[in-house]
Amino acid sequence: MDLNPVRSQFPALAQTLGEHPLCYLDTAATSQKPQRVIDAINEYYQRDNANVHRAAHQLSSRATAQYEAVRDAVQGFIKAERRDEIIFTHGTTEGFNLLAHGLSATIEPGDLILLDSAAHHANIVPWQMLAKATGARIQPIPLDKTCRLDQAAYQELLAQKPAIVSLTHVSNVMGTRNPIETMLAQARAAGAITVVDGAQAIAHLRVDVTRLGCDFYLFSAHKMYGPTGIGILYGRFALLDTLAPLLTGGEMIKQVSFEQTTFNTLPNRLEAGTPPISAVIGMGEAIAFLNELPRVQIQEAESELLHYLQQSLKALDEVELIGAHPDNIGAVAFNLKGEHHQDVGILLDQQGVAVRCGHHCAMPLMQTLGLKGCCRASLGVYSNKDDIDRFICALKSVIELLQP
Ligand code: ALA
Repeated sequence: MDLNPVRSQFPALAQTLGEHPLCYLDTAATSQKPQRVIDAINEYYQRDNANVHRAAHQLSSRATAQYEAVRDAVQGFIKAERRDEIIFTHGTTEGFNLLAHGLSATIEPGDLILLDSAAHHANIVPWQMLAKATGARIQPIPLDKTCRLDQAAYQELLAQKPAIVSLTHVSNVMGTRNPIETMLAQARAAGAITVVDGAQAIAHLRVDVTRLGCDFYLFSAHKMYGPTGIGILYGRFALLDTLAPLLTGGEMIKQVSFEQTTFNTLPNRLEAGTPPISAVIGMGEAIAFLNELPRVQIQEAESELLHYLQQSLKALDEVELIGAHPDNIGAVAFNLKGEHHQDVGILLDQQGVAVRCGHHCAMPLMQTLGLKGCCRASLGVYSNKDDIDRFICALKSVIELLQP
């Protein structure tokens, strides 16, 4: 399949860094943006800029209509049953903070919270705050030798009737795709509130929250070709409606006096203050972009490309792959044996190749793997075989330089 028409929609990819054309393999950190997303944000500021839900004038009506239309688009995109199950947040991290804070009245001392051992810090630290405030306990679901979640250990943990099970759909470090369909069903049967970090899955997989049957699903626009500063907390209505708001103030109220305040209904109750309107509109355009792509073919092409990347790295004796499986999604974690990941990243950058190096906001995973950090190459809808060939060529020259 010819992906060039897609690639040419991303202006940032056309640049050179010094004499090297950019080879962008850091989509898991943030994706590049198609021109239409950039244009949608510009047009809002050039034509419709006004606050939402607040004024009688036409600009505000236009801004409000566009803003609320994106809520409908998100509902359709993830197949939520109701539009008021979609809460705009500033991103996945804020979503987890809102969720962990919002559930505090539901959690009791001694309650168990199960987390993925490979979880991103955003899916760990807010739960630790909740545990501290309530006396709940946190238990990681261990990994097996192949860096997948250990399903036997998970069954044993579920037997302890956890109050919350918070899973990762796709690991941001290794690209591991967890069998969340089964794991969610098992967690539900054990009586747990179920949460999914979808930040790394949303751009690659079709997500149907109703079919998944999770209580909460979180993601950010900037990893799915949209702008930074906007994300989604999806919540099953009956449970979402019980969440205490994290932020209070304008927009989220029904009635305010100096004595007391009554809160608004969903979704406004959980969206205090002026929202990031332009970012919401940009996210709407990113969804339109994704909806217009032949998703099945794109998913197949992305999977083929990931195999090619995994195989190309595997062919190098000096490379150590971390948790690489054929059904992984979008990313490969690796190290050069005996070399510091940061050195590798800097030397690749000098050849125009952008990868991420470090702990990837997953320090507990690094501890489990006995690593200080690693490099990660990640793919997007615009990535192609040439990117991978250039990356491998640059990596070979890094190996020659470091291990002559
Ligand atoms: N969570 C982002 C990453 O994995 C920043 O790189």
